[in-house]
Amino acid sequence: MSTTDSVRDNLLARIKTSDTPYEVLRAPELKALAGELQSLPVEQRADAGRALNELKQSLQAAIDVRQAELLDQAVVPIDVTAPWDLNSQRPELLSTETGTQHPITVELERVIDIFTRMGFDAHESRQLDDDWNMFGALNFPEGHPARDGYDTFRTEEGFIPPAHTSTMQNRVLRADKQKLEAGGNIASISYGRVFRNEDVDATHEHTFYQVEGVFVSRDASLSQMLGTLRAFFEEYYGQKLAIRTQPGYFPFVEPGLEFMIEKPASIGGKPGEWLEMLGCGMIHPNVLTAAGIDPTEYRGFAWGGGVERMIMLKYGIEDLRHFESGKLAFLRKFA
Ligand code: PHE
Repeated sequence: MSTTDSVRDNLLARIKTSDTPYEVLRAPELKALAGELQSLPVEQRADAGRALNELKQSLQAAIDVRQAELLDQAVVPIDVTAPWDLNSQRPELLSTETGTQHPITVELERVIDIFTRMGFDAHESRQLDDDWNMFGALNFPEGHPARDGYDTFRTEEGFIPPAHTSTMQNRVLRADKQKLEAGGNIASISYGRVFRNEDVDATHEHTFYQVEGVFVSRDASLSQMLGTLRAFFEEYYGQKLAIRTQPGYFPFVEPGLEFMIEKPASIGGKPGEWLEMLGCGMIHPNVLTAAGIDPTEYRGFAWGGGVERMIMLKYGIEDLRHFESGKLAFLRKFA
């Protein structure tokens, strides 16, 4: 075996196990071979030079393979769904705290539970809608000033992140109208996120939740509506409540009302301290017509209001902004 061959075998073997394979290129054996080249007779130098070059190339190829191998070993698979401290492979940093549902989710489920036990279907509302469902189907004519009251966002394409869950009314009425034809009623709630271009403060948020209800039958009445809402709120707050209404204007109901409850003494309310909980009223004939329901045969009532407001009253929360803040100190209170 020539010197070159034995040097190659030796160096290749080192590369295969080395953590720094490129250092092999600085091995003294290689330097020695290069030195020997100079002392060879001229006619042997060309062959010996080529052999040395080939040797270096084969070493380089082996180094590349080894480097790739080392890189593979260095890559620790990352679980992108795990908390960062799990991926850091330092289990002592792992939090032992278990996550919980967001208070809005918990309370929304309670709300849905109460209404479904009362016989209502429940649907989640959309987070992107159009002008028709936001305004047109709800009896807001083009250019009507009441449109401005909703501070709607719009996408460049003209879509609307809904400013109230009433955007679901036309869909629900159309989808369920065969229930009326079959002699039944429409009873449905829609719940979900709504968005308004508000100046944010303790009682205004750009993003919040609403629950909306619609009920349609041959003889739906305001007194049924008030009874339904009272029953709901008494169940939600777990106590008897005094209720009151005052006139309110919404183009999609006639008459339109604001529904109020007297703040219970058990949560620090004083007699005569009324809180507005939601907007409601008898569904406007134009809204029934837009959904293909004959308003001379059927009547309906609808209501809609903010979920956070209900939760704030239940738990004495002062600032609406806590809900979307992601602050753990706030969330832990509900754990
Ligand atoms: N959509 C109205 C609002 O957000 C509330 C409402 C719903 C009023 C249904 C009447 C009937 O202000």
